[in-house]
Amino acid sequence: MDAGLSLCQLMEPDIMASPYRLYRELREADPVHWDLFLHAWVVTRYADIVTVLSRYSADRTLTPEKLEEMGLGAMNPIIQVMSRQMLFRDPPVHTRLRNLCAAAFTPARVAILRGHIQDIADSLIDRFIGKGRADIVAELAAPMPAIVTAELLGVPVSDHEKLKQWSIDFAEILGNFQHQPDRVSRVAASVRDMTEYFRAAIREQEVNPHEGLVNSLVNAEVDGVRLTEEEIIANSILTMIGGQETATNLIGSGLLTLLQHPEQLRMLQDDPSLIPLAVEELLRYESPIQHTARVAQEDFVLGGKQIRRGQSVLAVLAAGNRDPERFPNPDVLDLKRGDKGHLAFGWAAHFCFGAPLARMEGQIAFSTLLRRLKNLALASEDFVWRENLGLRGLSGLPVTFDVPAEELRASRLELVHE
Ligand code: HEM
Repeated sequence: MDAGLSLCQLMEPDIMASPYRLYRELREADPVHWDLFLHAWVVTRYADIVTVLSRYSADRTLTPEKLEEMGLGAMNPIIQVMSRQMLFRDPPVHTRLRNLCAAAFTPARVAILRGHIQDIADSLIDRFIGKGRADIVAELAAPMPAIVTAELLGVPVSDHEKLKQWSIDFAEILGNFQHQPDRVSRVAASVRDMTEYFRAAIREQEVNPHEGLVNSLVNAEVDGVRLTEEEIIANSILTMIGGQETATNLIGSGLLTLLQHPEQLRMLQDDPSLIPLAVEELLRYESPIQHTARVAQEDFVLGGKQIRRGQSVLAVLAAGNRDPERFPNPDVLDLKRGDKGHLAFGWAAHFCFGAPLARMEGQIAFSTLLRRLKNLALASEDFVWRENLGLRGLSGLPVTFDVPAEELRASRLELVHE
């Protein structure tokens, strides 16, 4: 066992480009590994991750006193909001928050969004299809989930760029281990702005109620219990962020993966009914959330290692998704694999709340891209992965494609008219 193995190596550029060799090394050498640099257990086998997500505590936000003691007092406003989000709570608080949010986020609301999502995808593609080239991240994968999220929440769609920037800021805290003071002050400012924004959105509901998740959260009631205003704000922020970086990265990394596997791409183009299976396989193969954390509530033996009460455990979902004990030939992309048991949406009580919406967004994005953009190809072999160790995604994806004949005719007509 190599005691120097650490998830911190994700910061090295070649490992950031492809972390799967590091995950395999960890899984083979020491699947429940004490990371000397992170002071946490790193768990990389599928079965062990399922145990961690089923049995360990999600309540991992530090108290204000502890933060002060560690010299991290500046993080307090951020942690305050996180501690009211369902993702960081255990039952019974988690159950109450999740039930109330579920009452607001119904399958009917997701179904209503389907037609809108198709329109959003088409209108974003309309903007660049006549150019024959595009940055798929900047021009589709980033704005599409931001617009969908604004519609879902019932806030003005014209705010989507603001929502996207907040989401990027907050994701830096969620996805990174390294402490950077300037980053903390920027995220704290974003949290302040988001809190004010959602407080104003709640006030707006009182005078001018309209459809959307914020309205539903304000009115949600289960067995006479309602959400407090601070809980509505915190969980609106969680939904806004949960729904953006992840879906952006599913579309961006997923399209890159398809373009790097031309035979699989051709198979999908020939048979678009495979799209739902393809989305599951892309989620497994390049998981948008690479790892998540839990805390041991009691002393516990896992994989032969003694984990002590209070110790942190990092469950590397993306490593579990490449575990050969669970997925045969895990490093092979097989769009027909047909296995929904991957860990990309987590497991057990905190299983992704937005999974039906995320799946729908992914399916619509890929089917529309493949239907409308012919001869899609990578415009460059150099990819820059964002410096976010937990939320894995590209900072850009330049592609080329054929300009459809009607677009060419339209642009010639424009030239004649000029
Ligand atoms: C491809 C897209 C997505 C991926 C890969 C993803 C992944 C995940 C994962 C792994 C978790 C569990 C984290 C943990 O256990 O620590 C989670 C939870 C969550 N996700 Fe997603 N997510 C996606 C899209 C969405 C969308 C679209 C929404 C909202 C509209 C959303 C909202 C949430 C919320 C609220 C939770 C917390 C659930 C709880 O604590 O009970 N996610 N997601």
